[in-house]
Amino acid sequence: MTISTMYSLLQSARSSGYAVGAFNVDNLETIEGVALAAEEERSPVIFAVGQGALRYTRLPYLASLISTVAEGLTVPAAIHLDHGSSYGQVLECLLHGFTSVMIDGSALPIEENIALTKKVVEAAHLLGATVEAELGRVGGAEDSEESVEGTLTRVEDAVRFVQETEVDALAVAIGTVHGLYRWEPKLDFERLGAIAKAVAVPLVLHGGSGTPDESIRRAIELGIAKINVATEIRLAFLQELESRISDPATNQDLFKVLSPAREAVKSLAQSKMRLFRSSGRG
Ligand code: G3H
Ligand code: ZN
Repeated sequence: MTISTMYSLLQSARSSGYAVGAFNVDNLETIEGVALAAEEERSPVIFAVGQGALRYTRLPYLASLISTVAEGLTVPAAIHLDHGSSYGQVLECLLHGFTSVMIDGSALPIEENIALTKKVVEAAHLLGATVEAELGRVGGAEDSEESVEGTLTRVEDAVRFVQETEVDALAVAIGTVHGLYRWEPKLDFERLGAIAKAVAVPLVLHGGSGTPDESIRRAIELGIAKINVATEIRLAFLQELESRISDPATNQDLFKVLSPAREAVKSLAQSKMRLFRSSGRG
């Protein structure tokens, strides 16, 4: 199947009340695990390439592996740069066939975030790709609960940001964090509802791992159309690897170690697709 733009996936999701999972993929097994899940669930899927993966291996290797796998799917799939760190990195990914890019200017003052995002939107749209940006800051699990509250997305900023940048999707900070939580997350649903009413573009939730299912369901009801999941994918892979490597019955055969680890990624991704209600939408 031809690879989709993220925009087409998210528009259908937003109008039909589900969210598309953006799963960070870092190697053959995580790419295949996510792909097998999408195929079995008949779910649209976004393969997300993050900064860690780009430090670990080379962009051309990842891009060609993911596009080969994605083109073999019979459900819509997009290839997405996660937390793009610069205009140059975005261009490189677009030139390697990414159909969607995030430029993360959330740490910049809003004026600079707007200027950078506008520049990326102009380039990406010339190549038919979708752009996501982040406003407010989705912190890391290492942040304190108070600091996370201090960086939530302001509604009036979101309206201005979307108007001035013409971005296709907006990642909002409403209380989730990257990584596993050290406290029970309290998502600001009132804020999310107000942003969803005020801006027309699909909204994105970062920090999907460890966010309680009930909060995920509520966020989708209120307008979240894309949910990023990285940590739980990696932990599913690592935990299965660990158990197979520590088992003498399997630890002498690479395939008896890797195959169950790939399977663990697949079932984790499937459970998220069901939770996000994207199963059967492909
Ligand atoms: O950009 C990636 C996601 O926001 C990952 O968050 O590791 O908490 O699932 P997570
Ligand atoms: Zn993120």
